[in-house]
Amino acid sequence: MTTTRPLGEPLNRRDGTEKTTGRARYALDVPHDGLLHGAIVHADVAHARITSIDTTRAEQQPGVVLVMTHLNAPTLKPTARPTLVSLPSWAPGTMVNYLNTDEVFFDGQPVALVVAETLDQAMEAARFVTVTYDELPSRVDMMAEEKHSELVKPAPVGIYTGGKKGDAEAALAAADVTVDATWTTPEHSHNAMEPHGTTAQWDGDALTVWDGAQNLDWTKKHLQKKFDTSRVRVVSPFVGGAFGGKGNVWAQTILAAMAARELGRPVTVALTREGVYRVVGGRTATKQRVALGAGADGRLTAIIHQVWQRKGTMGGGDDQTVSGTADLYAADSILLQQYGVKLDLVPNTSMRAPGEATGVVALESAMDELAIALELDPVELRLRNQPTKNPMRGTAYSHHTLPESMRLGAEKFGWSARTPEPQSMRDGNHYVGWGMAAAVHPAWQFATNLTLTLSADGTLLVRCAFHDMGMATATATAQMAAHLTGIPESSIRIEYGDSDLPIGPGAGGSGQTASIAAALIKAAADLDRQLENLMSNGGRTPAEILTRAGRTSLEVKVGGDTGLGAVRGNVGFMAKLIRDSRKWTKAASGAHFCEVRIDADTGETRVSRWVSVFDIGTVVNHKTATSQLRGGVVMGLGLALSEATLFDPRRGRIMNPSLTEYHVPVHADVPRLEIHVLDDPDPTMPLGILGAGEVGIVGVGAAVANAVHHATGVRVRDLPITLDKVLPN
Ligand code: MOS
Repeated sequence: MTTTRPLGEPLNRRDGTEKTTGRARYALDVPHDGLLHGAIVHADVAHARITSIDTTRAEQQPGVVLVMTHLNAPTLKPTARPTLVSLPSWAPGTMVNYLNTDEVFFDGQPVALVVAETLDQAMEAARFVTVTYDELPSRVDMMAEEKHSELVKPAPVGIYTGGKKGDAEAALAAADVTVDATWTTPEHSHNAMEPHGTTAQWDGDALTVWDGAQNLDWTKKHLQKKFDTSRVRVVSPFVGGAFGGKGNVWAQTILAAMAARELGRPVTVALTREGVYRVVGGRTATKQRVALGAGADGRLTAIIHQVWQRKGTMGGGDDQTVSGTADLYAADSILLQQYGVKLDLVPNTSMRAPGEATGVVALESAMDELAIALELDPVELRLRNQPTKNPMRGTAYSHHTLPESMRLGAEKFGWSARTPEPQSMRDGNHYVGWGMAAAVHPAWQFATNLTLTLSADGTLLVRCAFHDMGMATATATAQMAAHLTGIPESSIRIEYGDSDLPIGPGAGGSGQTASIAAALIKAAADLDRQLENLMSNGGRTPAEILTRAGRTSLEVKVGGDTGLGAVRGNVGFMAKLIRDSRKWTKAASGAHFCEVRIDADTGETRVSRWVSVFDIGTVVNHKTATSQLRGGVVMGLGLALSEATLFDPRRGRIMNPSLTEYHVPVHADVPRLEIHVLDDPDPTMPLGILGAGEVGIVGVGAAVANAVHHATGVRVRDLPITLDKVLPN
């Protein structure tokens, strides 16, 4: 089959007009007859037993049809992991069996749901529920609980949480030049534009949920187990951002389904913005020791990275915070360790580059400190320590382009004009500094089923239960399908966002596009073979071949099973993934260069210039891929300068659960971001794709911190870099 060259074209996203004109229907925009609304009553203690709940007054409020608590809620199956498809060390949201227990495991846990005819009625009535507690001992302050943390035992595959090579402490002690310091990063919340919300409706034992989800299949399996029914459908064609925060099933989904079954009517539970902070986990705080030892020649002899972070007592997981350190630089002796402590807080969950986003901040800041100690240019230090194979795992790099990204970035930025002395680039009343850092993020892939349907009118339909939560996945899928089948992109239709479609990959781990690519490659080859079989009747285009053969359509399936069978059929896929992981280090990577300008009187830090160069393998759509990368950098600026979810260290209550007090970057905080991509296919990934969603955020915090140091001479190792921390003495 001939191929066109739609790959890489900067096409507009397919759902762009619908989204920007407000016509796109998100989960809660779907109308339902007889819809009821639920409002959550949150616990305001960290750990307790409920001694009484008085719902009388709430029940008397106008419009109220049900007040559900642990005293009258239906019994649910315990929360279980959707095995085979779940990452083993991560819980699916929280393990709390909502309204099936009198125990409170974190501040914010739902202890009642008030359901009424309107949202206002439900919210008003929820204020009248009074709960009394018997408080239990709690641990809520990660930094104070370090003594209770336990070493995370590294798993053979999947999330990377540690390893050891040589005697790194001894090598550090013997090194000519060393850096040994501690970094801290706070908790973060995702803050997607669309807060979490679910509408649930039952028809007999069949449950349908309209849910802004990131993984239809996990959500479906979770609900199947929880509600003990095989008949579950999850619909989410549009998702207003997620960043990891909608990868698991959170309280609103469970509560909506519980209430809808009790009442025999559709029920919406929409989290308030504060509710999102309180029931949906965010990114764990970290405390990190990075110690580097080097010879006078600038070659690393020792790398130590030890991390302390937290989970919840009822769920959460281990961010792979040392993963980037395992991949970036060569050294003979390396020690990578993670420690975790369970706290009485809402369980953490994955948030854009869970691990690398914070871990690489510490590593790449330490590299900057080492460069200064060695009187070497930061780029030169990194170039001198490029490994030929993965220094921890011994695997070959499928793609090793970091030197190229750093050189190109330095050139585009004009890095050679940098004077190394701190404060040497002062401009009037502003300290000016230039900093750089590397980025890396592993390339993941997930088992994917899909169908291709070719019609005699020349159109192609791709059906796959993937997600497009803002990345333009449908657009990329059409471009890949056009590339592989030769059918024009404009003649390709994509159905997605519905769990009744063949099971697709969740939108996570930056792995969705490559996963769809792998399935499309198989399906397109199948389609080709079948068309060849029909060619005896003549015809040159697929449409002609079908018409001459007297067919109206032709369908091919990859996997093609939406039940558990598809997962079993994917054992072969997993086996290949594991074989591959023993052979290759596959990762997207890049380099950031930035300028900061700091007001000498107020300490206000503005990022004034930014250049990043990334290797994401093949670029499927230049516009939407660079938009993903740009979004990653923007989120990194938040991590660097302003974002922090503040838990009261005594009570575990979030003190800033709103966008007025949790500061995400706004337009005025973001300079023009110059984003370059190498566009060089990775030889081991489907269509050469490494993934673009997460690598952009990695290293941003370090590039900014390094620029702040260059500007002022002040080394900030405690994020975010707020103005009180940056002014020189
Ligand atoms: Mo993600 S943190 O893989 O959405």
